[in-house]
Amino acid sequence: MAHELLLFCICFLFLFHGSTAQDFPSQGDDHQVCRFLKLKPLQLNPNLISVASEAGETAMWDPLDEQLRCIDAVLIRKVISPQGLSLPSYVATNELSYVVQGTGILGAIGSGCPETREKLNIGDFMALPTGTIKWIYNDGLEPLIIISFRQGSKRQQHSLGGTSRLPNSINDQLLQSYAANNVFAGFAKETLENIYKVDKEIVTKMQGRQGDSRGETVHVLDPSTMERHKEEQRQQISQQQPSNNVCNITFRIKGKDPTNIVTSNEGGTIHDVNGTHYLILKQLQLSALTGDVYSNTLSGPVFNANAYIIICAIRGSGRVQIVGDSPTPAHDGQLREGEIILVPQGFATTTLTGKDGFKWVVFKTNSDPTLISFSGTTSVIQALSTGVLMNMYRINKDQVQDLKYNRNESGLYPPSRA
Ligand SMILES: *[C@@H]1O[C@H](CO)[C@@H](O)[C@H](O)[C@H]1NC(C)=O
Ligand SMILES: *[C@@H]1O[C@H](CO)[C@@H](O)[C@H](O)[C@H]1NC(C)=O
Ligand SMILES: *[C@@H]1O[C@H](CO)[C@@H](O)[C@H](O)[C@H]1NC(C)=O
Repeated sequence: MAHELLLFCICFLFLFHGSTAQDFPSQGDDHQVCRFLKLKPLQLNPNLISVASEAGETAMWDPLDEQLRCIDAVLIRKVISPQGLSLPSYVATNELSYVVQGTGILGAIGSGCPETREKLNIGDFMALPTGTIKWIYNDGLEPLIIISFRQGSKRQQHSLGGTSRLPNSINDQLLQSYAANNVFAGFAKETLENIYKVDKEIVTKMQGRQGDSRGETVHVLDPSTMERHKEEQRQQISQQQPSNNVCNITFRIKGKDPTNIVTSNEGGTIHDVNGTHYLILKQLQLSALTGDVYSNTLSGPVFNANAYIIICAIRGSGRVQIVGDSPTPAHDGQLREGEIILVPQGFATTTLTGKDGFKWVVFKTNSDPTLISFSGTTSVIQALSTGVLMNMYRINKDQVQDLKYNRNESGLYPPSRA
């Protein structure tokens, strides 16, 4: 009985949470900035906004661009060299990241929990609730490349060590605030000495003073130091009591898990990573899709009823058409490697991949997006009754049959073989 009541309460909480989230997919919704007649691909311009550090580089797509401002988001690309350690840091907002290339180790500490370590591979996601402390170590042989999506106004990164380097070329206060900032640097030395009961030397190093110019990603000289020390392993086991469910979290999501496949045919494969399978995404109120699509493959039209989406082109290119509130398209053009574009809630899109195929990742501002499709099986056109279609388009019954059923697959439409 008690159990049932508890379950009911939990379900109710989720329902309530889900519905409020759907009503407010984005804080930027009312802003003038979100009334788009035209959308345009936004390039990552490392000359404009990037920060180099000893063992890596962080760059971001222009956060002042109106498409990103509309959804109050930033999109960041981090490159970590082999044996590079991205120092422990946090942001006061939810963050969903995608591993574009390479392998590594994610170390994460949820509030009041021990450090967890998870292996990162290409195609994985990291779902980090607000305030999670994370570090990333590249234990592979090639650069580790990660794209992170943060939504909300408190998205500045705070680091637990090191010194922030400023972006290469900067002339705006707002942009400057994105460089990771050492939380300890601002406190008085003697305060920290007394709090930790340690001497000056340690405090100076915590504060990143005394000529530490390595930046937010540092080179690990001896990789064996990154292994967990013996006494820590013992501590870890005693801390992970079976009763401590709060800390039983995994932050890594295996993006390429076969259970995430929503379409797989001769056109390619699409994985959907959302709140249905991953509770942590309900907490983040974010979800994602990845596509690895072969050349000359069509998809759409589709629209998201309750989410804004950002499409990031990872490799190759595609012709993306986006139709919104006016009869002229909001966008009709190529989206190329390194470019992103916003698709506002309710805007419909189609894609035709270029000759080299198209690999992309999509971030959505809802954990349980409602996708509505206008073509193929499970589409609105197949669902509408024949009579309605006959009268709407002034076509005969045979034409309606063609329109409804000539396309008998869904999701991706590879070129038909001649
Ligand atoms: C931790 O969570 C997983 C799945 O989320 C579950 O299978 C496992 O039993 C949990 N472990 C503990 C100690 O609660
Ligand atoms: C969530 O993803 C699964 C596959 O992982 C898919 O079957 C389901 O339709 C998706 N749900 C929503 C709400 O998009
Ligand atoms: C599509 O499927 C329907 C029913 O399964 C079938 O009757 C029809 O011939 C198929 N159309 C084509 C073009 O394959």
